[in-house]
Amino acid sequence: MRVLSGTQPSHDHLHIGNYFGALRQQVVLQQDYEALIFIADFHSMNSVRDARERQRYTRAVALDFLACGLDPSRAILFRQSDVPEVCELAWYLSTVTPMGLLERGHAYKDKLAQGQSANHGLFAYPVLMAADILLYRADLVPVGRDQKQHIEMARDMAEAFNRAYGVEVLTIPEPQILDDVAVVPGTDGRKMSKSYDNGIPMFASEKQIKSAVMGIVTDSTPVEEPKDTKATLFEIWSLFANPDERNATFERARAGGLGYGEIKKDLLRRLLAYFAPMRERRAELEKRPDEVEAILLDGARRARAIGLPILDEVRQAAGFRARR
Ligand code: TRP
Repeated sequence: MRVLSGTQPSHDHLHIGNYFGALRQQVVLQQDYEALIFIADFHSMNSVRDARERQRYTRAVALDFLACGLDPSRAILFRQSDVPEVCELAWYLSTVTPMGLLERGHAYKDKLAQGQSANHGLFAYPVLMAADILLYRADLVPVGRDQKQHIEMARDMAEAFNRAYGVEVLTIPEPQILDDVAVVPGTDGRKMSKSYDNGIPMFASEKQIKSAVMGIVTDSTPVEEPKDTKATLFEIWSLFANPDERNATFERARAGGLGYGEIKKDLLRRLLAYFAPMRERRAELEKRPDEVEAILLDGARRARAIGLPILDEVRQAAGFRARR
C-alpha cells in the first residue's frame, strides 16, 4: 500500500493544531506504508507571491517533518516542483473534468461567496491535487476533513480518465480522514488556525510560546470557585496529560481552588517538555541546510522513479509516445 500526503508551504511556524491534527499521523504512517510526503510548493502559488518567502516556507515544512520524526531513509520527502511532470498529468486530467465538478469546489465557492474573483489556478486547484495523488498511484491519502472533497474529486477524475480511454491506468485513491484529535481549539476557543491567528506555535521561541499559552482565553471565575473543565484551556492542557493526570486535575478544578494561572503554567511546562526533543532536532537541522537540501533531492529522485513510468502509461493510453 502506498500512502501520500501533501502540505502547502504557507508558514514559518507550525502550531500544535497542525501537529496533533495531521503531522503526527503522517509521520506514523511511514512505519506501515510506503509513504510519499511532499511539500506542495506549486499549490502555494495561489497564495504566496514572493519567491524568497516561498523558499523560506518550503524549508520550514521540510524541517518540521524531519524534526517530528520523519525518517528520510524510509519515507520519501520531496518538493512538488522537483517533479514538474505533475503539471503534465494535471493537463490530461483537466480534459476529462467537467466544469460543474470544479464549480462545486469549496475553496473556489468560498472565494466567490466572499465577493472576490478567483484565479484559474484556484479553480483548477483540485485538478493539480488529483494529479499529485494519481501520478504516484497512491492508495491512501490521509487528510483533514476539509480536504475530503478534493479526494473525492480525484477519484472522479481517475475514473473519468480510465473510462475515456478504456484503460485501468489510474488507481482510485481512498481518503483516510484524520480525526483522532482533528480539531484542536485555538487560544480564543475557535478552531486553531493560521487565519485566525490563535495558534500556539511549537517551534517558535520559548518567549513566543509562553505568550501564546498565557493568552488562552478564560472566563473570570475566581480561583476558589469550581471550574468548567470543558473550557478551551482544559481541552488544550489535556493534549499533554495522560488519563489519570487528567482525572485528578479535573477533579481539583471542579472542586474549586485551582486557578487558571496555575493550569497555564503547568501547560507551558508540559508543552515544552513534550516538544523538547523535536525542537532540539529542528535547531540542529537548521544549521545544516545542505543536508536538508540533499534529503529533498534524493526524495525527488525516488518520487520520479515511481511517477514517471506511471505517467508514461498514461501518455501511451492517450496515444502519446513513452518518454523513457
Ligand atoms: N490541498 C492540501 C491542503 O491544502 C495540500 C495538498 C496538495 C495535498 N496536494 C495534495 C494533500 C495531495 C494530499 C494529497 O492541505
